[in-house]
Parts: sequence; structure tokens; C-alpha cells
Amino acid sequence: MLGYSSESEIIQLGDAKLLFADDERERISDYNAARLRGEAVPSTYEIVGKTRDGSLIQLENRAFTVRWGEGTAVCAMLSDVSAQKKLEAQLRQAQRLEAVGQLTGGIAHDFNNLLLVILGNAELLEERLADDNELHNFAISVQKAALRGADLTGRLLSFARRQPLDPKAIDLSQTLKEMKELLVRAIGEHVDVRTLSSPGLWLAEVDPSQLENAILNLAINARDAMPGGGVLTIESSNVELDSDYTKDKLELLPGRYVLVAVSDTGVGMTSETIAQAFEPFFTTKEVGKGSGLGLSMVYGFAKQSRGHVAIYSELGKGTTVKLYLPKSSRTAALEQHVVPYESVPKGSEKILVVEDDDEVRSHVEGQLKSLGYEVVSVANGIEATEVLKNTADFDLLFTDVVMPKGVNGPALAEIARRLYPDLPVLFTSGYTENAIIHHGQLDKGTLLLAKPYRRVDLAEKVRAAMDRRNG
Ligand SMILES: Nc1ncnc2c1ncn2[C@@H]1O[C@H](COP(=O)(O)OP(=O)(O)OP(=O)(O)O)[C@@H](O)[C@H]1O
Ligand SMILES: [Mg+2]
Repeated sequence: MLGYSSESEIIQLGDAKLLFADDERERISDYNAARLRGEAVPSTYEIVGKTRDGSLIQLENRAFTVRWGEGTAVCAMLSDVSAQKKLEAQLRQAQRLEAVGQLTGGIAHDFNNLLLVILGNAELLEERLADDNELHNFAISVQKAALRGADLTGRLLSFARRQPLDPKAIDLSQTLKEMKELLVRAIGEHVDVRTLSSPGLWLAEVDPSQLENAILNLAINARDAMPGGGVLTIESSNVELDSDYTKDKLELLPGRYVLVAVSDTGVGMTSETIAQAFEPFFTTKEVGKGSGLGLSMVYGFAKQSRGHVAIYSELGKGTTVKLYLPKSSRTAALEQHVVPYESVPKGSEKILVVEDDDEVRSHVEGQLKSLGYEVVSVANGIEATEVLKNTADFDLLFTDVVMPKGVNGPALAEIARRLYPDLPVLFTSGYTENAIIHHGQLDKGTLLLAKPYRRVDLAEKVRAAMDRRNG
């Protein structure tokens, strides 16, 4: 849990306080001293732990006194509650969205009925007033306003997951092909629109018109993020999500999905914006420009379709929104897709892992170690450069593409290439392969592992990167 490889390594620390974050140590000392004096102190409490490599994790401590030879000692039991904390936060967020959804859904539902009456009567008036030019135009503008209102309530209903869905088995490569012209027209000439689909695409089980709506919303967001022009890439591919990826996502089951990824080279989003982006009426656009319902619609649609939606974004670089849609079971019989542990390729080489996200880094390190590899992991390109200068026997550099603090993945790879021309490099990123290559961040032919990945994908790409060097 704390990254130590043996009991003796921990005992050698000599002081159990070293297992906690620096600013927690005084609290631990005070509690333990008070406990030994027989005073009342909390017996269960949360505390921040510090792992061997210095990253922080959320712990729960249960402590009590025990007889120890002639004297008294404190016995403490630590459990890692990081994942649980994350789930709780997600649950709170989901409950909030659910509450807002019920409210907006209820209003939208009633409002829709009113709009129906307004629209119907305006149509009647339009017909009757055909001879009077001026009044005729009034009737038409009432109709237009009612239709816009209906569009808004439709998005609200989608967010509230109350839009009636009519799912069919859809070939997304076909959908994208058909939508291309519409997209080019909606988005304007200054943006280069590319649609791609990987071969052998599974059919997805979704409502086709809502799906088109969702893709259009994402494409329009991408356009708005690229006022000076850029590249919009929409691609579809097959993915398998394993329980490792789904375990801390609410309402998402492991299994096979068809992924639609919409990537732009625009302004990107801050983490605060990402956190609120799915909320209805959240917009950073000026009044009259955005209603803040686009992503809400996509979110509700994804959830109602038993899929999932995730945002990856880097400020100033661009955004990828990934929409996971369940694979249709109508065409193919359910296949067995759990890859048995024995058939995953393993090895014992030494790998340098560079990843700025603490959680992802410790996860990857654990995965690689369980595959037999020796792993050194660091949090950024600058640290990685130091390690590379001092250590010559790495067999693979495995690095995130986009990293803060100066040296990003490609720059690090260049430094590594100068030091060790034969050292293979494997990149990883939340962006998809096509998006990254088209955005000019990576050259063609570089190896990339797109997040999220399964253990077997990691094992195979790592093996392939090293075997390629060996010829
Ligand atoms: N591709 C993107 N790049 C950068 N920021 C984005 C992107 N997509 C969404 N956002 C941010 O998320 C906010 C919410 O998006 P959403 O689509 O829900 O509403 P909107 O685009 O502002 O309005 P609407 O879609 O209703 O016209 C946006 O205002 C913007 O700040
Ligand atoms: Mg929008």
C-alpha cells in the first residue's frame, strides 16, 4: 500500500511517523502520547499517508493500546481509502446532477406541452393569415421561437435522461461518413474536419438521432474552442473497458464499447471547467452565445444509453471528449473476452515510467511490476532527465505525452535519444493516437498507448516496444 517491498524495509525506517505526510506527524505524536497516558483520543480517524516514493494517499487509521511486555504500546491499523474517497466525491456529484436533472426534467416536460400548443396554434394562424403579409410574418416568428424552445427542452430532457430513446444497432463508421458534410457546413471553413473509423468496427446500440445530436454538440464546442482555426478529428474505434477502468466510475460496467472520440486543437479547459462542464447551464461563453446545455445533453444521453463520457483536456493544446457507447449484442453472440493472466506477455527488463498524475503513476508502476518488470517512476520530465543521466541500463522509456513543467514527453524522448540512441520509447496519453499525430505533437511511427488501457494492452505494447529494438 505504501510502496515498500518488505517488512524489514519499513522496520529500518526506525520511526513509524515517516509513513505519514510531513504535516501529519505532529498530530500522530500527540495522539499516541495522549493515548499512552490513558487520555481520550479518537480511535478511528483519517490521515494522509506518504508512500515510499513520496506521493500522498488517503488513509484511515484505527489505533488502540496493547500490552507490550512490561509496558503499553500503540497498535495502529491503516487502510487505504483513496479509491473510496474518490467514489464518494463522484457519488455526491452524481446526486447533485440527479437532483438538478429531476427539477429541469420536470419543468421541461410541462413546458414541452405548452410549446406544443403554442406551435400548433401558430401553424394554424400562419395558414389562415396567408393573405396578410405582415400578420403572416408574426405567425412565422412565433413558430420559430417555439421550435427553438422545443430544441432547448429536448436537451433538458436528454440531460434528465427522460428523452425517449429508440436504440438501434448502428454502424458508426457509416454515421460519421453521412454526417461529415453536415459537420463541415456547421463548422465553417477555417476548421479542418477529419472523420476516421478503425476497420472491423462493432455495431453500437444507440438511438441514431440522439447520437447525431450529441456528435453535433461536441463538434460545435470544438469549433467554438478554435476561433482561429484548427483540426477537428472525429474517430470511432472498438474498446474493451476492464474492471480496473470501471471500478471507480459510477454506473459503468466492464465490457465492450464503441468509442467516438471528438478532438480539437483549441483553447482547452481548466480542471475547474471540466469539473462543471456537464452541469446544465454551465457555460463560459458570453450571454446569448451558449446555453450551457450541449455537454449536459451528451452526458444524459451517454448515461441513459448505458455508456459513458469522459473529457481529457490540456489548456492551450486542445480537448478530447470520449463517448463510449455499448456494443450491440444483436449481431454477434457474446464472446468471451477476459484475457487469462498466463497469456499476457511478461518480462524482467528495467523500465523508466514518467507520469505526472500520482494515481496513474502508482497504478502503472504496480501493473508493470506485477508483469515482472523492474520499474523506476518519476513525476516529470526534469526528474526523468536526471535519472536518465545517472542510470544507463534502462530498457524502455515509458512516458506521458503532455506534462507540465517544461519538458514534455516528446522533448524527453529527444533527450533520451541523444543519451542512448537505442533506448526504445513508448508514449501514453489520454488523447487518441490520431488526434496526437494530427496535432503535430508526435511523429508518425511512434508507439502510443491510449488511456484508458487494459492490463493486456499495456503488457503487449511494452513488449512490442522492446522487441522492436531487438529486431
Ligand atoms: N471542446 C471544448 N474546448 C474547450 N472548452 C470546452 C469544449 N467543450 C466544452 N467546453 C467548455 O464547457 C462549457 C460547457 O459546454 P456546453 O456544450 O455544455 O455549453 P456551451 O457550449 O457553453 O453552450 P451550448 O452548447 O448550450 O450552446 C463551455 O462553455 C466551455 O467552457
Ligand atoms: Mg456547447
